[in-house]
Amino acid sequence: MCGIVGYIGKRDATPILLEGLRRLEYRGYDSAGIALNGDGRFQIRKKKGKIDEGLARLLPENPAHGNSGIGHTRWATHGPPSDENSHPHLDQSGRIVVVHNGVIENFDRLKQRMLRDGHTFHSATDTEVLAHLIGEHYMKVKAKSGDLHPLTLAVMNALREVIGTYGIGVLSVDYPDVMVGARRGSPLLVGVGEGEHFLASDASAVVAHTRQVAYLNDYDVATIESGRFDVTSLGSDTAKVQISQLEFGAEAAEKGDFAHFMLKEIFEQPRTVQNALRGRIDLEEGMPKFGGLNMTTAELREVDQIVIPACGTSWHAALLGEYLFEEFAHIPTEVEYASEFRYRNSPIEKHTLVLVITQSGETADTLAGLRESRRRGHKVLAICNVVGSTIAREADGGIYLHAGPEIGVASTKAFTSQVSVLALFALLMGRIRMLSSSKGAQFLRALEAAPQQIEKVLEQNDAIRRIAQKYAQCEDFFFLGRQYNFPVSLEGALKLKEISYIHAEGYPAAEMKHGPIAMIDEKTPSVFVIPSDGMYEKSFSNLEEIKARKGPVIAIATEGNTRIKDRVDDVIYVPSTLEPISPLLTVIPLQLLAYHIAVARGCDVDKPRNLAKSVTVE
Ligand code: G6P
Repeated sequence: MCGIVGYIGKRDATPILLEGLRRLEYRGYDSAGIALNGDGRFQIRKKKGKIDEGLARLLPENPAHGNSGIGHTRWATHGPPSDENSHPHLDQSGRIVVVHNGVIENFDRLKQRMLRDGHTFHSATDTEVLAHLIGEHYMKVKAKSGDLHPLTLAVMNALREVIGTYGIGVLSVDYPDVMVGARRGSPLLVGVGEGEHFLASDASAVVAHTRQVAYLNDYDVATIESGRFDVTSLGSDTAKVQISQLEFGAEAAEKGDFAHFMLKEIFEQPRTVQNALRGRIDLEEGMPKFGGLNMTTAELREVDQIVIPACGTSWHAALLGEYLFEEFAHIPTEVEYASEFRYRNSPIEKHTLVLVITQSGETADTLAGLRESRRRGHKVLAICNVVGSTIAREADGGIYLHAGPEIGVASTKAFTSQVSVLALFALLMGRIRMLSSSKGAQFLRALEAAPQQIEKVLEQNDAIRRIAQKYAQCEDFFFLGRQYNFPVSLEGALKLKEISYIHAEGYPAAEMKHGPIAMIDEKTPSVFVIPSDGMYEKSFSNLEEIKARKGPVIAIATEGNTRIKDRVDDVIYVPSTLEPISPLLTVIPLQLLAYHIAVARGCDVDKPRNLAKSVTVE
């Protein structure tokens, strides 16, 4: 949510900032702007709209240059998208400029005081108030900062007055060789280059220049120059800075030959599922193994309840986790919307394991759920994709997805990777309880076959596109499934809503007759996820109920089921597998269906309206 990039070095900062912003655009695309610090003045260029429609058009007409600069791509919180509300923002004196990700909760009180003191504001944002606050402190400390740089000290003093969350980049016109970054609640890292440094919300913005990064912790304030950087903490602990090596290269954050990141990521799934399984399967013992749980087998055996807080697509994966943990290990499992969980006083008993699931590792509500659980003394494990993210660092242990950067706002490959590691983890919990090694091995063999089976589903891309075009103008959709394919139906509906703005509902197929079936008519298609499993006959009756009301049906069925062809309007086949593994296959046609419908409707698939990839505000 909002992307920040900064550069300080010997090169012209403008193209580096612009490229960095393009890579961060999935975090927000309401507006974009940059501020360059050169020739004793700031050159600020900012514009409402996506980068290519706004800022990138403005720059050739009105160029800006300098060896240091900061940039921002915005997802609006305070004040609607407009040129004025775009970042960067200046302070009252015009000597300080700020980009900000997060929410300053007490901005209104600060603003009222400043207005009484004669400040003038040009935007409705909380960020401009923060810039003014830093500016006030800067004027006070300019000459007397001791060990700390005056800009660093001014930022620290201002942040002590602030309630809320922030990741910020700050420049002073007086010191073009210094850039200050600080974080609380919003991610920020320093990229370490040769005689140059970068500041960024996430690694994709810097990976084209360096693979060495230092993730900042909450309350860290970094003073960054071209040849060095120091980190000091606003909190009581001394700052601990560690330089990590990124595990992916620049090509992982590029679209390649694909029209959209979402399509690229859908097609990556045979490999990403394989990565999620790699090194974690012991076929001989029928046993999954993990390196980072930081819990002994005895501790895992003691777990008698699992609570899974998550948001969005990760919440759907969590729901599959509930089915898996209960079936394989008989452990009662609760899935919680992280935004609700964080404020509820849910009874979590002594041997409850809290397991958070998050692709980004930065979702504010999930992070808050993790922190609250740890405050209460619970162990928290995280299933997470982004290495070094806040949640990955704050959890007691966990499982990485190793899926590579997910850029498309609508999550795809993260979901199948989450389901893969959940299946492994649930099997592990079962094996150390009541499941035999032969059952374990049988399941693991089926899981290992999944990547190739996903490949087979992807081969039907052209056929799925044709089906998508047939239904692209419908305004309401149902996605229906039972048991393991109920969460898949929710995910299919979410994909369609997110990127095509079509109203879609995911429902347990048998629940339809308790209300929603009233909405079925010849213009309302149902996507029926109906593999040949233990629920097939029951699901088929539910399908007949839809057909009897003239509802068009697109079935996702198992190869070899020829009988269904005559009863439905369209069918997409997936290979046969074990029931708990079927979501890895059945979700693929739903992702492709949503993708092609959105393309047919002319929607911007990678930048759907109103959304952002990583939701770092409440
Ligand atoms: C946003 C994204 C979703 C994602 C959700 C949770 O809403 O648009 O695609 O599923 O956040 O994100 P997380 O990174 O915690 O999995």
